[in-house]
Amino acid sequence: MKLVLLVAIFANSAFTHKFPFTYKFPENFHTCHVTDPQLDNCLKITIENALRLIGSTGIPSLYLRAIDPLKVTKIEIGAGTNAVNLVQKYSDVSLHGIASSKVENAHLDIDRKVLTFEIFIPSLTQEAHYDINGSILVVPVYGNGKSVQKLFNVTVISTITFEEETKNGESYFKVQSYKLSIDPRKGEYRFDNMFDGDERLGATILKTLNDNWKAIYDDIRSGLEGAYAAVFKSITNGFFSKIPNGEIFLK
Ligand SMILES: *[C@@H]1O[C@H](CO)[C@@H](O)[C@H](O)[C@H]1NC(C)=O
Ligand SMILES: *[C@@H]1O[C@H](CO)[C@@H](O)[C@H](O)[C@H]1NC(C)=O
Repeated sequence: MKLVLLVAIFANSAFTHKFPFTYKFPENFHTCHVTDPQLDNCLKITIENALRLIGSTGIPSLYLRAIDPLKVTKIEIGAGTNAVNLVQKYSDVSLHGIASSKVENAHLDIDRKVLTFEIFIPSLTQEAHYDINGSILVVPVYGNGKSVQKLFNVTVISTITFEEETKNGESYFKVQSYKLSIDPRKGEYRFDNMFDGDERLGATILKTLNDNWKAIYDDIRSGLEGAYAAVFKSITNGFFSKIPNGEIFLK
């Protein structure tokens, strides 16, 4: 059984999979009825439950891959406009913490096909190989090596706009746009091997970065949000493009 699923995922990623897709909801997957007068509350439970179930294993039978850690091959954040004047390149990215999200609220606007939900994450850690060259707070910086960036008490608001498409007589959702707002109470940065390993200079700059974490964060914020929104758009689409929406939102 497991082997069959693995082959299906592999085949799917190579786009050789035949439509319609087979899928299976885990028994403990929480679903909602669109007619539920408490739909928003139901969605809140569904999303929290789904994030936990997806966790470190994913749900292969629903084409959902692991999100904690969330592995991303490459993230590139363009130069900011104020404090941060450098292009940041990250590779082999692992983001830890999503599975311990607490969903604060959720809302589905059925007519406009917009799903909004707010989650709270106590601690979000991005580990990656970094490569930067430019300036931060007018100080020239460069380096490449291991980086760890932590955000604490993070409020994340997702706004997902869907469009509907009919395939084989069944209706599916397709994510048209995915917007993220990521708002932390505190940030902590670590970049090893800055300035070709000049440890004293590296430590001085790191202290400056951490003392000014908020200005730095505000400047890279939209780049970071855009990069992760693209990742989540792809994950969400992988799910919605294969499961008819009548199976996700029960009548
Ligand atoms: C950083 O960029 C500057 C100007 O673009 C270049 O002169 C310099 O050699 C670069 N430094 C490193 C370490 O790549
Ligand atoms: C994060 O939230 C917890 C619980 O609300 C609080 O005790 C802690 O001081 C907060 N930390 C920061 C950095 O805001």
